[in-house]
Amino acid sequence: MISFNFDHTKPFLETEKVESATKRAELALKHVQNKTRKGPEWLGWRSILEQPNDALLEEIHNVAVSVRSQADVFIVCGIGGSYLGARAVIDALSPEFSQNVPEIIYAGHQISGKYLKNLVNYLEAPKADGSAKQVYLNVISKSGTTTETALAFRVLSSWMHEKYEDAKERIFCTTSAQGGALNKLIDKNGYKKFVLPDDVGGRFSVLTPVGLLPIAVAGIDIRTLYYGAVAQFNEYEENPKELLKYVATRLALYESGKAMDMIASFEPELSGIGGWMQQLYGESEGKNGKGLFPVLLGYSTDLHSVGQMVQDGQRNLFETFLVIDKTNQNLSVEKQEDDADGLNYLAGKTFHDINQKAFEGTREAHVEGGVPIISIHFDKLNEENLGRFIYMCELAISVYVYCLDENPFDQPGVEAYKKAMFRLLGKPGTV
Ligand code: PA5
Repeated sequence: MISFNFDHTKPFLETEKVESATKRAELALKHVQNKTRKGPEWLGWRSILEQPNDALLEEIHNVAVSVRSQADVFIVCGIGGSYLGARAVIDALSPEFSQNVPEIIYAGHQISGKYLKNLVNYLEAPKADGSAKQVYLNVISKSGTTTETALAFRVLSSWMHEKYEDAKERIFCTTSAQGGALNKLIDKNGYKKFVLPDDVGGRFSVLTPVGLLPIAVAGIDIRTLYYGAVAQFNEYEENPKELLKYVATRLALYESGKAMDMIASFEPELSGIGGWMQQLYGESEGKNGKGLFPVLLGYSTDLHSVGQMVQDGQRNLFETFLVIDKTNQNLSVEKQEDDADGLNYLAGKTFHDINQKAFEGTREAHVEGGVPIISIHFDKLNEENLGRFIYMCELAISVYVYCLDENPFDQPGVEAYKKAMFRLLGKPGTV
């Protein structure tokens, strides 16, 4: 389950403001449900949960099982909504330093020749037993034309065609049903294709083949993830009270002058989830001079970096803490005879207990420093709860952006840099 704690926003918000924001959120939710506001053609992230496609889940699972039985490396080539969701779930559920096979590597999310060159060198290098690495590639681009992804795919697919006779069996493409350069390459080379439905935007696509194929290849149970989201969908259709309170609190904070939503966690495995949320929120709400700037913070690390700013800088921010209540991790502090480091007072406590106190202490200090805090709790971190969380965020941001009277599903601002870059590069038709 996931739950919220709004207690630490109360000193900063008048009850009437939250109540009136709740009424607006209720109305906005109806518009999402009835498809009566901006961007109704982009609400497919809801219909895929209303009518789950079990055959598709099965197909993705089977492809993933086959890839897992052969691959040493699986490359996920995409940018923005085309890779952040997969990365978030994989990072959340895979142990650090585990040397999982296949190793998941990301590409196509920047334009670094050095990165790509070093990646190809790494793929070329034999394994410890002297044999060649078996590499599989998943390129993901809804438009099929995104420069960063397309450039990386050109380099990596060329390498694969040189290296493997069966390259076309090792390359999987996820894109729109029609259009875009990627569909031309699929037709030309016969790659296996997964379709991202037209009515699902990139940042809302983690529960489509965009996210599900890489997540399944990482060995994560996509059915439980997916059905966690379905359960959350059904629960909110029945009773959206908590969701509306979350949206209303965020809205009331924004309208009281807050400019930044600091998404923070004391659990490093949630940093990918925070990054996914940052993109989902930022690209959905930053329009026409409106919106909260979502900032990702990893604690305790950032308490020793921008912590001073959060505690004592300009009071234009609030925090959204992502919290894991229970963990299987049970490393405890051991007692030492001489207590030279003075840590025996912690002997017997688990690191989770100590981290929890670090969270509570930080919350206390930040509230005293004038920072309102919303906490979102996972009772434990697993597939089901991540599915629930994903849907909660998708619905919350859509309702919130409707309250701002904007379209949550487009991203016109992202075109500005592309236009200038294409002109500077001399792309045909742009100069
Ligand atoms: O959320 C979005 O729509 C964007 O972040 C896209 O996912 C991102 O720009 C990549 O686009 P594409 O999948 O077309 O390559």
